[in-house]
Amino acid sequence: MLLLNPGPVTLSERVRRSLLQPDLCHRESEFFDLQDEARERLLAVYALDPAAWTAVLMTASGSAAVESMVAALVPKKGRLLVIENGVYGERIAQICMQYQIPHERLVGDWMQAPNLEAIGARLESKAPQRFTHLALVHHETTTGRLNDLKPLGELCRAHGVKLLVDGVSSFGAEALDFSDLSLAAVAATANKCLHGVPGAAFVIVRRSALAEAASRTYYLDLGRLANLQDQRGTPFTPAVHAYYALVEALREFAEGGGRQARYLRYAALAEQVRAGLAECGIEAAVPAAQSSVVLRAYRLPAGVSYTTLHDALKADGFVIYAGQGNLSKTLFRISTMGELTPADISRLLKSFARLLA
Ligand SMILES: Cc1ncc(COP(=O)(O)O)c(C=O)c1O
Repeated sequence: MLLLNPGPVTLSERVRRSLLQPDLCHRESEFFDLQDEARERLLAVYALDPAAWTAVLMTASGSAAVESMVAALVPKKGRLLVIENGVYGERIAQICMQYQIPHERLVGDWMQAPNLEAIGARLESKAPQRFTHLALVHHETTTGRLNDLKPLGELCRAHGVKLLVDGVSSFGAEALDFSDLSLAAVAATANKCLHGVPGAAFVIVRRSALAEAASRTYYLDLGRLANLQDQRGTPFTPAVHAYYALVEALREFAEGGGRQARYLRYAALAEQVRAGLAECGIEAAVPAAQSSVVLRAYRLPAGVSYTTLHDALKADGFVIYAGQGNLSKTLFRISTMGELTPADISRLLKSFARLLA
């Protein structure tokens, strides 16, 4: 079965085999070597300076990394502007509500890019309504839209606001400009563009931002996790096997040419899918130039329900993904993450053609 859902991904044999390494106690030096290697390699994905940035690991899924980032990095006296154009932006606001973090939501149309004018106007707010932080999703997996961080970074810098990014479905493939001084942190996970398994998530955070971190949560306390990991420690029992897989996936990633190579590989597969589906009369929901290379949303063909499409493709060995919420009636999604080849996509397109003939 090939997974075309946005994670967990189809694993390479090499990563799958890494799960069979020796049993390991998480209080032994071998585990801390593994943890150190994972943290170093995560920074290397974007060639980050370890003096300025740190990678903080946690045993959890991507949502927990986002939760840990938001709960720690908006200080007690801070205020967060949440930009929403999909399910995952909405989730950031739900996290704020859960922790009673002062925030305001800027809810946009899920099929559109964030409204920069509206964001600029909100960032003009004066004390006590002044925002200290802005959070958004880089690749909004709901629709496949890649939110452009460049103009947002410019706005943030102009207003002295720090940027918190949910990079769960973009880290490792899409470009991220860590030299943007407004960028404080990016949250992500092992089992998407990095091709590891679920169970290990992380936040890449500026050390200067960590120095002012709040402590609102116990298990996901970013500052405490960072301190302990810097001392080759861990507060809890980590998912050791997920860490084995993450390190192997990161070695494979580096040997395969790193972030840019992964971007190009996904871009070619995504274009192959787009062109092939267009030949079957299936339209992309978001223009290619505004979409990620990681996942794209397509309009369901007239008269074909998602369930019919899903079940027929699954019988041929492919798992696709539904649209979220109301979008499930009109959209389906195809991700090109994981151990997929152009030949796999050709077979997928043949299945589509047969189904729609
Ligand atoms: C952008 C984004 N943020 C957060 C999440 C949540 O990740 P998880 O399901 O691993 O908690 C996802 C999952 O697809 C995502 O795509």
